Amino acid sequence: MMGYRKFDLCIWVLSILSFGCFCSGFTPVDNYLIDCGSLANTSVGNRVYLADKLASNFLSTPKDVLASSPLKSITSFDDSPLYQTARIFTGSSKYTFSISLTGRHWIRLYFYPFVSGSYDLSKAKFSVSTQNYGLLSDFSVQNSSVMKEFSVNVNSGSLVVTFTPSSGSFAFLNAIEVVSVPDTLITDDATTTTPGKFQGLMSQALETTWRVNMGGPFVSFENDTLWRTWVPDRDYLVSKNLAKDVSNVAAVEYGEGLATADSAPRTVYGTLTEMNSAGDPNTNYNVTWEFKVDSGFQYLLRFHFCDIVSKGLNQLYFNVYFDSWIVAQDLDLSTIAVNKLATPYYLDYVTTSVVSDTIRISIGPSSLNNAYPNAILNGLEIMKMNNSDGHLGGASGAVNSNSSSKSNVGVIVGATVGSLIAVVLAAILFILCRRRKDKANQGHSKTWAPFSMNGTNSHTMGSKYSYGTTASAASNYQYRFPFGVVQEATNNFDESWVIGIGGFGKVYKGEFNDGTKVAVKRGNPRSQQGLAEFRTEIEMLSQFRHRHLVSLIGYCDDKSEMILIYEYMENGTLKSHLYGSGLPSLSWKARLEICIGSARGLHYLHTGDAKAVIHRDVKSANILLDENLMAKVADFGLSKTGPELDQTHVSTAVKGSFGYLDPEYFRRQQLTEKSDVYSFGVVLFEVLCARPVIDPSLPREMVNLAEWAMKWQKKGQLEQIIDPTLAGKIRPDSLRKFAETAEKCLADYGVDRPSMGDVLWNLEYALQLQEAVIQDPEDNSTNVIGELSPQVNNFNHIDTTGSPGQFEVSSVDDLSGVSMSRVFSQLVKSEGR
Ligand SMILES: *[C@@H]1O[C@H](CO)[C@@H](O)[C@H](O)[C@H]1NC(C)=O
Ligand SMILES: *[C@@H]1O[C@H](CO)[C@@H](O)[C@H](O)[C@H]1NC(C)=O
Ligand SMILES: *[C@@H]1O[C@H](CO)[C@@H](O)[C@H](O)[C@H]1NC(C)=O
Ligand SMILES: *[C@@H]1O[C@H](CO)[C@@H](O)[C@H](O)[C@H]1NC(C)=O
Ligand SMILES: *[C@@H]1O[C@H](CO)[C@@H](O)[C@H](O)[C@H]1NC(C)=O
Repeated sequence: MMGYRKFDLCIWVLSILSFGCFCSGFTPVDNYLIDCGSLANTSVGNRVYLADKLASNFLSTPKDVLASSPLKSITSFDDSPLYQTARIFTGSSKYTFSISLTGRHWIRLYFYPFVSGSYDLSKAKFSVSTQNYGLLSDFSVQNSSVMKEFSVNVNSGSLVVTFTPSSGSFAFLNAIEVVSVPDTLITDDATTTTPGKFQGLMSQALETTWRVNMGGPFVSFENDTLWRTWVPDRDYLVSKNLAKDVSNVAAVEYGEGLATADSAPRTVYGTLTEMNSAGDPNTNYNVTWEFKVDSGFQYLLRFHFCDIVSKGLNQLYFNVYFDSWIVAQDLDLSTIAVNKLATPYYLDYVTTSVVSDTIRISIGPSSLNNAYPNAILNGLEIMKMNNSDGHLGGASGAVNSNSSSKSNVGVIVGATVGSLIAVVLAAILFILCRRRKDKANQGHSKTWAPFSMNGTNSHTMGSKYSYGTTASAASNYQYRFPFGVVQEATNNFDESWVIGIGGFGKVYKGEFNDGTKVAVKRGNPRSQQGLAEFRTEIEMLSQFRHRHLVSLIGYCDDKSEMILIYEYMENGTLKSHLYGSGLPSLSWKARLEICIGSARGLHYLHTGDAKAVIHRDVKSANILLDENLMAKVADFGLSKTGPELDQTHVSTAVKGSFGYLDPEYFRRQQLTEKSDVYSFGVVLFEVLCARPVIDPSLPREMVNLAEWAMKWQKKGQLEQIIDPTLAGKIRPDSLRKFAETAEKCLADYGVDRPSMGDVLWNLEYALQLQEAVIQDPEDNSTNVIGELSPQVNNFNHIDTTGSPGQFEVSSVDDLSGVSMSRVFSQLVKSEGR
């Protein structure tokens, strides 16, 4: 129930502006322009940037260091005079701007890394934040100019922008702008359709990731009333030959109550990309663009439209998509401004947390009869929204800012290559976050190439006063480790460092020079499953990133080794906490949270990508716990990509672990997500009863846990066989919900089993029932389960007390996307236009 709400954030919003005036003359109340390091005022276009010394009253810094570029004109791409000088911050430094008019403000930061004296600015690494938001984190700029544009809402009388050097480094800045944004540009409560609406856009910090002029030229800040730059779309089109540019700038007529020149300039609305074979009645395809983004964030997408192609009203109906979601269906622009074509307007859409490093924007013809088969798009803005911690990421922030368990991974430093490895690994993590299955990359470049300092940075969006993003390029890198580094990290595969042994080989604890721990899985070269699983695992793990899936840090295939390097999970397997290892017994709440976490991970696998992935080896030994007992699903060696939409199963040889195997899969050799659900049901009983799923030493009817537990569950007396350390500690309604959920997972036929999303929901409910936040309407009793009958308690429990409530509750919902399709199917028919 709780789980569902966050997914409703994916909403589309039709924003109508009420800007009476469309005269292009917005005058910002707050308008701070500073050319850092410059001795004189600098004019750029019609704007004057203040000389650094005239801005000194805004700045508090431990030491004044000014730098200027040795070259007068840098390159044609970086020819803004702003890039010729810079200020260097050797310690934490603050700009404090007094704000006369509260509301949204641009913060534009200009960086160009030149070498000045002993400072090589490309070596700088730093974070930038305001009072409320983290804008950049461990940011660095390599060899091209970068302009980072943010907009934040300022509610107080001042805006403080803080530059904090990363340890051992320094920060720099070539120029800064803090400028008022018209209130109407980003409205808070964008009107939306059911089932929910995105509210609170006002309090979002936004980072402009892309701003694109479809079918038109580069638009420099001089041609934009709010000093924005727009880049042409050609480079981002997936199939250029399917798209055609159209231009008719003169036709654009800004309408009252709709978009204004401040929404986007005439050059944007007066040019567009349409379908190449527009008008041909047999035309039916999408025009698609792809953009690199940082995964793990939500984005505000603003689609700009102006129909300069139709000859009459109600001719053009088209659909707009974000990835596979429909943003607008059968959009008829001629109904927006009464009886007028060529009236600019825009559509705002808030995405869910993006799971891959690329987003696809498509337009395509409507399937309505009589529709003229065409589709258009004039402009697009992609704005990253701050995460729940108020961060906009940057390389490290994007890794997994919600998860404390990841924080140590972010600072891994490698062994032999010393600190360079730090950069490499940071880049690796960076890549892992954004990398998706990228077939093109898998084949080539099999050599270990340390990431050059030059290489790690981005493509800038190019051209005059260019506009960069660090989100990119990464997909070309491998995260391959040299054997020597792995050898050293594991003390040359010291047998006493072995923390696990599986079919694949041994798992060693490893430690890099800086003390960061990893788990190193070394494949047995003679292992039958070997190579295929090795590849599957690399493929799967580099494709999926989720806080409840164990992260792959790298791999090594030197000398036909098959080594996988994972984040280290401090608390080992779930299994070891249930029985057989003497670890203290977990409380019911901790167990529920572990089940919920793993259900989330599996749910993500089943639904989080275009194609479902079936884990195939769900068991308590494949659920790992980090130092906070947060659960992560591991071991993707057997995973299979799920059925295509038009099929319902994958036919494949039976694999998996005895005791957890779906009997239906066994019978029919057909694999569906529901096989994982079955195995997960067994795990649930294992968690409840704390005994092995198969225990041949027990009396016959007790050997198989799934059968044994189902027998008691059917009798309604499951409490007879639960882990004795839980006796008296589980609320009956929580137990009932949990047991029912497990029972349903074990249904004979897959179709009768719930989806992982439903399982997740039910487990969350069981947790709430335990915490007595709500009362289960079916049962008002609050008495706790009584003593157990002794004869069923003959399992060896070494545990003593329930563990204290050390578990951190993570109510934050990640990318799980429960019932997204449901949400979206309701969004399809928009009422907003
Ligand atoms: C620089 O610009 C500021 C503000 O526009 C102005 O007050 C100042 O006189 C200028 N200084 C010089 C040396 O031009
Ligand atoms: C931009 O503005 C300049 C002058 O301000 C003008 O000469 C130029 O044609 C404009 N470019 C576009 C693409 O509108
Ligand atoms: C256009 O893209 C959407 C979303 O990916 C897809 O559902 C639709 O089938 C595509 N239409 C065509 C004609 O390819
Ligand atoms: C962004 O930050 C604001 C304020 O800190 C917060 O209310 C909001 O929930 C954050 N956005 C997201 C998507 O988490
Ligand atoms: C700058 O970086 C790009 C890649 O980002 C690289 O291709 C180019 O060679 C680098 N140039 C210099 C001068 O280092």
